[in-house]
Amino acid sequence: MRGREARAATVDRMMAMLPDLGPDSRVLDIGAGYGGSMRRVVGRTGCTATCLNISEMQNDTNRARNRQAKLGSRISVVHGVFENIPDPDSSHDVVWSQDAILHSNQRDKVLAEVWRVLKPGGYLVFTDPMQADDVLQPVYDRPHLKSLGSMRFYREAQALRFEVLAQEDMTGHLRTHYDRVREELTASYDRLRENGASAAYLDRMTVGLENRVKAADVGHLAWAIQLFRKPK
Ligand SMILES: C[S@@+](CC[C@H](N)C(=O)[O-])C[C@H]1O[C@@H](n2cnc3c(N)ncnc32)[C@H](O)[C@@H]1O
Repeated sequence: MRGREARAATVDRMMAMLPDLGPDSRVLDIGAGYGGSMRRVVGRTGCTATCLNISEMQNDTNRARNRQAKLGSRISVVHGVFENIPDPDSSHDVVWSQDAILHSNQRDKVLAEVWRVLKPGGYLVFTDPMQADDVLQPVYDRPHLKSLGSMRFYREAQALRFEVLAQEDMTGHLRTHYDRVREELTASYDRLRENGASAAYLDRMTVGLENRVKAADVGHLAWAIQLFRKPK
């Protein structure tokens, strides 16, 4: 899927998650950028929308595109910050945001503001790049993992109602495996380059593997053979 299609698919998915989105709905997009999402949402549902954004340059473009799309009367574009939303309490059915809240170092405040401007029963629908809830970010960076389980996670998988019969810790194997792959990569570096792999790609991969080895060395990684049972 190309970028534009993926974007539209995200917007459509977010819309589909919202029950009762229709002509009577009021939607606020915080950190709206150039407003493409709200043009799609308003165009599809007939709702009215407000785009709140800190960038006047983006807001001007947004307004021009809304006029072009003949949606100027249904979408207001407001200059402001989402830490201090310039709207009354309980004024929106939906607060919408895509990849913007990360720009705030006051996420609690943003969420409190979202809470304040939402009507009772209203929805917050959003996407946001986040760090994994763990210490292993350098490990996640290759190959783009979001998080890893842990021995405790699996031990506590009673939440999934499994009985945990065994967790045989074999973490050393993992360290060895990563170190071996790193060695092999180093040994075949020139050949891989000749075959078209970019130096940036190979270097990133090497660093990723080194990070895994280091993480294993300091006890941040674990590996185990685990045996679970679904209770009868
Ligand atoms: C990565 S862009 C995403 C834009 C849009 N939501 C999208 O998905 O195309 C982040 C947006 O957040 C806006 N922004 C950053 N900090 C903000 C703040 N404190 N209050 C309002 N908007 C903010 C930026 O101007 C930018 O338009």
